[in-house]
Amino acid sequence: MIDTTAINRERSLFQDHESVWLFGYGSLIFKVDFPFQERRPASIQGWARRFWQGSHDHRGTPENPGRVVTLIEAPGARCAGMAYRVSPAVFGQLDVREKNGYLRFSTPMTFEDGSQEDGLVYIATADNAAFLGPAPEAEIAAHIHGSHGPSGANREYLLNLAQALRELGEQDEHIFEIERNLQAL
Ligand code: SIN
Repeated sequence: MIDTTAINRERSLFQDHESVWLFGYGSLIFKVDFPFQERRPASIQGWARRFWQGSHDHRGTPENPGRVVTLIEAPGARCAGMAYRVSPAVFGQLDVREKNGYLRFSTPMTFEDGSQEDGLVYIATADNAAFLGPAPEAEIAAHIHGSHGPSGANREYLLNLAQALRELGEQDEHIFEIERNLQAL
């Protein structure tokens, strides 16, 4: 398994700020095990959420990786999620949680009132060793159905994410289509 913590530590973006906005679009929406000062629904432009990243450490194992979300560049797309204002010190802990291929990138994010802030987002790009890439939603659902890892069932990750997006009042056809397929299994 590749470990991105050392690379992320060098990415000292916003390190001298008192607080930093973190944009979460996957488990960072529904599993909040880090301290934050403020939380606000937000979105980023030009990115689509996809279950294209392998998980060797949370929702699968090195022998049977699960599938979790990453962001894919998609001009014109909008990805909704949750933004957290955190102390820069929190990124040490987040780098460990996101160590299986996710790197910190700087991004503008837009809040519900239309205001914008720059902040950080973790993205697992297509060149990382755990990247699995596209597959039909029905295949992704079957894969998720059969995967488990130290953080629990892969199925639970998908269902929790779909529920969190509904609570935010958001539509994500990729996620909801996988959910429909999974519920039929
Ligand atoms: C995120 O939630 O923003 C990153 C991907 C994940 O941890 O599921």
